Amino acid sequence: MALNTTIPHAFLGSPEAWQGFVGEAQKYMPSSGRLALLAFVNIPLIAIVLNVLRQLFLFRDKSLPPEVFHLVPYFGSAASYGNDPIRFFTDCQKKYGNVFTFVMLGRKMTVALGAKGNNFILGGKTANVSAEDAYTHLTTPVFGKDVVYDIPNERFMEQKKFVKFGLSTDNFRAYVGLIEKEVSDFIDRDPAFRIYQINDINEWGAFDVLKVLQEMTILTASRTLQGQEVREGLDKGFSDTFTDLDGGFTPLHFTFPNLPLASYRKRDAAQKKMSNFYVDIVKKRREGKSMTETDMITALMECKYRDGTPLRDHEIAHIMIALLMAGQHTSSTTGTWTLLHIADRQDVQEALYQEQVKHFGQPDGSFRLPTYEELKQLPVLDCVIRETLRIHPPIHSIMRYVRADTPVPPTLAAPSKDGTYVVPAGHYFLASPAVAQIDPEVWRDGAKWDPGRWSDADGEAQKAFKQYYDESGEKIDYGFGAVSKGTDSPYQPFGAGRHRCIGEQFAYLQLGVLILTVVRKIELRLPGSVPGPNYHTMITMPKDPRTMLYRRRRFD
Ligand code: HEM
Ligand SMILES: *[C@@H]1O[C@H](CO)[C@@H](O)[C@H](O)[C@H]1NC(C)=O
Repeated sequence: MALNTTIPHAFLGSPEAWQGFVGEAQKYMPSSGRLALLAFVNIPLIAIVLNVLRQLFLFRDKSLPPEVFHLVPYFGSAASYGNDPIRFFTDCQKKYGNVFTFVMLGRKMTVALGAKGNNFILGGKTANVSAEDAYTHLTTPVFGKDVVYDIPNERFMEQKKFVKFGLSTDNFRAYVGLIEKEVSDFIDRDPAFRIYQINDINEWGAFDVLKVLQEMTILTASRTLQGQEVREGLDKGFSDTFTDLDGGFTPLHFTFPNLPLASYRKRDAAQKKMSNFYVDIVKKRREGKSMTETDMITALMECKYRDGTPLRDHEIAHIMIALLMAGQHTSSTTGTWTLLHIADRQDVQEALYQEQVKHFGQPDGSFRLPTYEELKQLPVLDCVIRETLRIHPPIHSIMRYVRADTPVPPTLAAPSKDGTYVVPAGHYFLASPAVAQIDPEVWRDGAKWDPGRWSDADGEAQKAFKQYYDESGEKIDYGFGAVSKGTDSPYQPFGAGRHRCIGEQFAYLQLGVLILTVVRKIELRLPGSVPGPNYHTMITMPKDPRTMLYRRRRFD
């Protein structure tokens, strides 16, 4: 099972991709000799010069946010953004402040940074900002029609409510043991953990941590949320279909929704196949042939829209695909970063292990299963996951399309004492909670992975956390049940506002049980240091090499 997530030509910043473009263009050039060739070579140069002159000397509308200086028109800052968005944002922040616009492949992207910037974009009204207009060309070919960003926001909010219904506490209670068993069996049987003989107990082995986490994530999600049929399908071709579908969910496909390339054809074929797979499950269940109480398909089959109509079979199928995609890389990379950090920090790993021994250790050296409620009372495990999500939030950029001219609050950024910037309709908004989550003005030693900061009751982490979950404060119902607003917290790994993640509790459950099971069974070490982030995929993943050393603690 190979879950392919890296894309061949990465972001469009890669020079090879551009050489390819030029080569293609030459093929279609009329053969009218030197002049044409000269023009072809010189036009870009002239365009660059004009673009620079325009930025330096031309009158600019003072109500527009400052524009990031760039050489090549159309292409703009695509390379700097694509290679390291966080560095690009923080560099621009120093030059232009919290609100600025950059050009990326013909699009105008207006960034608003900091907690206030997040609040401005993520708390925006549907009349002003739209997620569906920003995402649908990427997501609809992958998820399918009539769900998520293919429909008006109001209807999608109803779908989010249905999914929440399937993410019930009762279901979660049943999932603890299922997740533990999948992870435990994987470590005992998978070839990735070759050191499995009892006499190998003191031997160190090695595995690719991202690859293993991707497999553990899909196994545990399918055993629980997705349902038994999907779990069984994983051993019979489902994972290849998933790989093809996933190969259509990259920055390239975001930039160009349709190109005559193999990855696009595979994406479309995989979408149909997977949609049929889920529709068949729904049909069989309707005929009473199979039913499990605790999964999402069962829950969705019982849901009705406000107008009284139930979800149609293909809508259930497409919601299931959307959940699979939304949960897979977010959880697997978070798990990967967590294991990398605890392998790097032996003291934290030991504290995690001791926490397990203290609460669940048995006289014979084995461990008992935690209950769902007990799982939420493990401070070391909690801090470790929270801290990992702080410096490695899987999603570095949250986008919205600007539907109506939207004034920037002067408290966020203003051209002069009594001025206001206006972000015009047609721009894209870009929020990056990832930047606020390491802001040196908020976080002590912000770039450092330090789970201990979460146990300081008066520290910055607890303050941000309270703002994010805001037990006592303002709650808003966007159509999927009341949630704390949390849009102005400097910690928002699950987004905020109307589009806030509904998978958070499930992700904590899945990651929590996964990590504690790993820590109970094996010791981890890193041969080098924690790798840096690779931004060339939709989700921020660690760069190669991701090799981790392990040694079994005991054999059950
Ligand atoms: C560590 C794990 C996860 C992280 C960090 C995460 C992060 C996020 C973020 C940042 C958003 C907001 C996107 C936006 O505003 O454009 C979001 C939305 C969402 N996530 Fe997650 N997510 C995780 C796991 C999951 C899981 C497991 C599921 C499904 C079971 C899920 C389902 C969703 C859904 C349905 C939305 C709503 C999208 C919308 O309203 O536009 N997520 N997530
Ligand atoms: C939304 O757009 C309208 C029309 O341009 C504008 O008057 C209004 O101030 C905007 N609302 C917000 C909250 O920015």
